[in-house]
Amino acid sequence: MNRKYRKCIIAANWKMNKTPTEAKEFAKQFKLIAPKGRWCDIIVCAPAITIPAAVRAFKETRVTVGGQNVYWKQSGAYTGEISTDMLVDAGAECVIIGHSERRSVEETDYSVNLKTAAAIKAGLTPIICVGESLQQRDLGVAFDIISTQVKMAVAGLTKPQMRKVIFAYEPLWAIGTGVNATPEQAEEICEHIRATIRKAFDARVARAISILYGGSMNPSNAAELLAMPDVDGGLIGGAALDPEKFVNIIKAANQPSAKE
Ligand code: 13P
Repeated sequence: MNRKYRKCIIAANWKMNKTPTEAKEFAKQFKLIAPKGRWCDIIVCAPAITIPAAVRAFKETRVTVGGQNVYWKQSGAYTGEISTDMLVDAGAECVIIGHSERRSVEETDYSVNLKTAAAIKAGLTPIICVGESLQQRDLGVAFDIISTQVKMAVAGLTKPQMRKVIFAYEPLWAIGTGVNATPEQAEEICEHIRATIRKAFDARVARAISILYGGSMNPSNAAELLAMPDVDGGLIGGAALDPEKFVNIIKAANQPSAKE
């Protein structure tokens, strides 16, 4: 983390978990144990149908609520899709785009680009996920894969628009496996993401963007991952389903800023 230049963000990705009722229960427990300090922004990305209940439940807390996917068209005959206006109207402030679980079914680098532009236009903060598979890492092409994903996602954005973007590095082999990237592995790729942005835009834009790490982050490994200079927060799946574990990860983010 480097708090001089950017925000620390701890974000939950609930994936296909938590009904509206369960979200209410989570928020109730969260409020009892949530730390008072303001050392990081806290986000919960809920299933679309749970968003309004989550927004209500987290009212008067520091938690902002986000979606997990969005479509780039404003409205029309797109059965099952959700527009940016719908997310905004439901109270979402951000949205995950390009999660590997979506890339594995239908998402492409190109659709990630369209969705990112649409989100920004609607005033939603995009949390763009990038990451390599184990095969890609073993073949030595992880850096190339990541820079292509990053460049494709933000192609066409202006520098002021870029300042609204959050990236999340989520290696596929670390998601839900219990095997997290080491702090050095996470740092190396997060630094590479920043360098790619620096080349595509400029140093000031790159310096200001928060880059999160996601993949088996938990209360025991969070502190050392978050201590890395280019890891500005976490995107947490499994461990964020439990209020106590989520709070302990938030607490782990309360540490001195690393030097760049
Ligand atoms: P886990 O924390 O369950 O590995 O999931 C990470 C993730 O995919 C967050 O988007």
